[in-house]
Amino acid sequence: MELGIRNKNVLIVGASKGIGRGIAVGFAEENANIVAVARTKELMIDVKEECLSRGASSFEYVIADIMEIDTKEFAKSLLDKYGVFDIVVHNVGGSLISRDPLGGADEWNYALKFNAVASIDMNSVLIPPMIEKGWGRVIQISSISAVMLRGNPLYASAKAFLNSYVTTVGRALAPQGIVLSAVEPGAVAFEGSYWDKFIKEGHPRVDDFLRHHQAINRFGTPKEIADVVLFMASELCSFMPGAIIPVDGANM
Ligand SMILES: NC(=O)c1ccc[n+]([C@@H]2O[C@H](COP(=O)([O-])OP(=O)(O)OC[C@H]3O[C@@H](n4cnc5c(N)ncnc54)[C@H](OP(=O)(O)O)[C@@H]3O)[C@@H](O)[C@H]2O)c1
Repeated sequence: MELGIRNKNVLIVGASKGIGRGIAVGFAEENANIVAVARTKELMIDVKEECLSRGASSFEYVIADIMEIDTKEFAKSLLDKYGVFDIVVHNVGGSLISRDPLGGADEWNYALKFNAVASIDMNSVLIPPMIEKGWGRVIQISSISAVMLRGNPLYASAKAFLNSYVTTVGRALAPQGIVLSAVEPGAVAFEGSYWDKFIKEGHPRVDDFLRHHQAINRFGTPKEIADVVLFMASELCSFMPGAIIPVDGANM
């Protein structure tokens, strides 16, 4: 199956580890030109080496903390330096934030910015030049928590907001050649992930969680998420603007 990603210019925000690293490696294997963003230089050096060895046409990394900068200005600086991106993947986010259901605006704003609004702000700059070219793919990494609405209420709500953005804005952009979509992982395990230490300890929480919440009875891998992201970055998803795709081992 030809994805048509070879030599496309790809921006991955949050690419140094876990799912984001899996996505970077997936694009490398499709011979894409990759610009990757994260905070940790040592990790990015390692990802760069792996991506170049796996076939990336080029790999540049940018060290930035998107919670601490003006994300619109940051997106403009990326366009100035690297030109228009064909494909953008927003992977930054997570549930390890305040879990206080009665938290105030500071906590809720943080959850929303981390999981949705920082990427939305970047899209306001990155998508208009895609529209001028008449082709673009923007993939937001959401979570099955957006649908199941379990666990950390701030996280689940922020991802649900992100999904609403993808549906509504995905429709608005559909006639302009842009496919804005979301991929919703279920629980994914990898070295250093939330579940990793419990798995290594043989903690009973692991079996309990898998039995009750992932019908497939195992964790997902970054590659299983990346494969769907690659499809949503390709020519093949042309009839799927606004799609929100669970990749979750039949989460329940
Ligand atoms: N893992 C799961 O089971 C799971 C399940 C459902 C959904 N998801 C979603 O999938 C996405 C990735 O999850 P993950 O578990 O792979 O997360 P992760 O291991 O924490 O990795 C997140 C990536 O984003 C970067 N990052 C984090 N904060 C950043 C910031 N402020 N500025 C720039 N880069 C930043 C991290 O690199 P640095 O630390 O080097 O900056 C890393 O590359 C998230 O949106 C998460 O909500 C994950």
